[in-house]
Amino acid sequence: MVFVVSLLMAVGSALDAASIWSGDGHRLICEIAWRHLTPQARRLVHGLRAEETGTFAESCTWADQVRAERPETYNYHFINIPAGVSGVSMERDCGDPAKRCAPWAIKHYAGILADTGQSTRDRLEALKFLGHFVGDIHQPLHAGRPGDRGGNGVRVSFFGEWGTTERPMQLHSVWDSGILRRARLRWPASADELVAGISTADVAAWSDSDVVGWTNESYRIDEEFVYSVADGGSIADTYFVRAVPIARQRIRQAGIRLAHLLNQAARGRTSFNF
Ligand code: ADE
Ligand code: ZN
Ligand code: ZN
Repeated sequence: MVFVVSLLMAVGSALDAASIWSGDGHRLICEIAWRHLTPQARRLVHGLRAEETGTFAESCTWADQVRAERPETYNYHFINIPAGVSGVSMERDCGDPAKRCAPWAIKHYAGILADTGQSTRDRLEALKFLGHFVGDIHQPLHAGRPGDRGGNGVRVSFFGEWGTTERPMQLHSVWDSGILRRARLRWPASADELVAGISTADVAAWSDSDVVGWTNESYRIDEEFVYSVADGGSIADTYFVRAVPIARQRIRQAGIRLAHLLNQAARGRTSFNF
């Protein structure tokens, strides 16, 4: 994955680092979701994945691998929200049919997954996209500012590491992977411990389809904390010790919310408020 990312960066195109959360972030989220599926939803996932290799958790990085060959999905991995507003506006931030966004994609693919009239092939693809994009929207910088492309344009040092001229360390990649790696959050090793920290009350509080609300949570985390380091700034212990509990919480919430969407879809339902 690191190699693929380097290759993309070397092309020097408009593509930004594409490994949203790290691969392990996505796998952990889908592992947490899997453990909270109803028997009916597990049957649906099993049925759709009958010819697939690997586990459901492992399938949740696929969307990043097809980002180049499926250019229409490029914008589905994030949304950009200007600084200083009260929260996301789907009209303002996702209104252009040619430039959709993560909340739109989540609703779109949940609809396909819930629809028994769709082909197995399309529903399987919808499952893999959904598992990925629900994770992405919980990474705070996937609902970051347009001016710096969700922190991709904010160069920082992370514990003294500035990256290279061709590939400078960016605030975005610190949140995609740097924090998780340094905190040793790994799939599958960290799954048990993350799941054990989720209470029944958490599950009840988080099990909704309020994608706009999830997006606003990410945006608020950005405005209140993530962007407290400026371009050219340094990230070390003070920032890191605040960031780790946030990253852990976002992974847990993403897992529970994905499970909710899949459980609903397995009953032929979706209930989005936009
Ligand atoms: N990946 C590529 N562009 C992005 C953006 N504007 N925000 C978040 N992630 C991105
Ligand atoms: Zn990312
Ligand atoms: Zn992504």
